[in-house]
Amino acid sequence: MEKTYTMIKPDAVKKGVIGKMIYRIEEAGFAIRAMRMATLTTERAQEFYAVHKERPFYGELVEFMTSGPVVMMVLEKENAIADLRVLMGATNSKEAAPGTLRQCYGTDIQENAIHGSDSPETAQTEIAFFEKYYNN
Ligand code: RTP
Ligand code: MG
Repeated sequence: MEKTYTMIKPDAVKKGVIGKMIYRIEEAGFAIRAMRMATLTTERAQEFYAVHKERPFYGELVEFMTSGPVVMMVLEKENAIADLRVLMGATNSKEAAPGTLRQCYGTDIQENAIHGSDSPETAQTEIAFFEKYYNN
């Protein structure tokens, strides 16, 4: 079994599709091991996406991710990290494959409904971030 970290992003929370997205995640065989709804502060969003701090979209990304509450979850399944990325679809919602969460619930390259860890190292760091600040 493998764990991964996900967040339903502020755009999807505003659209009112938390339940639909969690339904799809559970239907795909993921077990929810921890969950918390919260609004990221600027400092915590900057820390979470620190890997992107030199990218031109970093400022906008932090602004977007702090624009409203997110739903944070630790998920478990065999091959959870890769399988969640497939369920999510491509970063740009407009290019995401039919039936993926981003194609169904995202809007564009930034407002793309969901975050998912992209490697075992990232999953470990992101679950540690969640446990440090939010799992209490
Ligand atoms: P995530 O980390 O949120 O799961 O998304 P990802 O791996 O598919 O994409 P990544 O390259 O890690 O980008 C992180 C998030 O930044 C926003 N983004 N905006 N304006 C842009 O060109 C741009 N590119 C990326 C998206 O919200 C993306 O999910
Ligand atoms: Mg990423």
